[in-house]
Amino acid sequence: MSEKDKSQKPDLPPMGAQDFSEIEDWPGYFNAVLGKGARDTLLTALDSFEQEGFLKGFAVDVAAGEGRDSLELLRRNWRVLATDNHPEAFAHLWTRVPEKMKPQLTTAAVNFCDMKFPNNDMVNASFALPFCEPKHFEVLWNKIVESIRPGGRFAGQFFGSRDTWASLPNRSHHSLEEVLKLLQGFSIEMMKEEERDDPPELRKPKHWQIFHVVARKN
Ligand SMILES: C[S@@+](CC[C@H](N)C(=O)[O-])C[C@H]1O[C@@H](n2cnc3c(N)ncnc32)[C@H](O)[C@@H]1O
Repeated sequence: MSEKDKSQKPDLPPMGAQDFSEIEDWPGYFNAVLGKGARDTLLTALDSFEQEGFLKGFAVDVAAGEGRDSLELLRRNWRVLATDNHPEAFAHLWTRVPEKMKPQLTTAAVNFCDMKFPNNDMVNASFALPFCEPKHFEVLWNKIVESIRPGGRFAGQFFGSRDTWASLPNRSHHSLEEVLKLLQGFSIEMMKEEERDDPPELRKPKHWQIFHVVARKN
């Protein structure tokens, strides 16, 4: 290998969803995940409702992104308020909603700190809350808890304090103990801790610590 070749960095793999998330390039993220299926946390919560004979309800999908979870909720005949502060999110969502389901959907472009939560059967926040600035997190979480009816559910993710992104400014990460404290007043139906390192061939490998949560309000 010549000296010139040695000095050249190997080609980086293309940016993936996590690379866009890290730098909060949300249009890049929406395109990277477009067409992916609903999150397991949402599917688990919906299955639990169905086992109780509760076949449709009203959900707030917080930071819904391009709308993978909102689409599943609509498909299962739920009414949905999808929120996100990036206006491009809803363009991806609305174009994929079948005409007959459009009356079930409302979208609101709103920042976490300005959110108003109508009373609901479920708050779904998939890979959303870690992107709330710490100074607004407590108020946001209290609004979420208040808005869910007894017997309703929260579904979503918290990022752990050992996750690489915990050191990024303006992110909200929590230890397991802190997550459990947030979930006081709920019966926890799913608490799946995922902790792992990315394979080195990724563009920017990181350490992940994620809590996947489904909880039923007491
Ligand atoms: C990782 S994406 C998750 C999207 C989707 N829920 C999913 O499961 O793929 C994070 C989302 O949070 C939104 N977001 C970031 N900061 C926000 C803020 N301050 N207020 C509201 N939404 C925000 C982004 O626009 C993006 O759609």
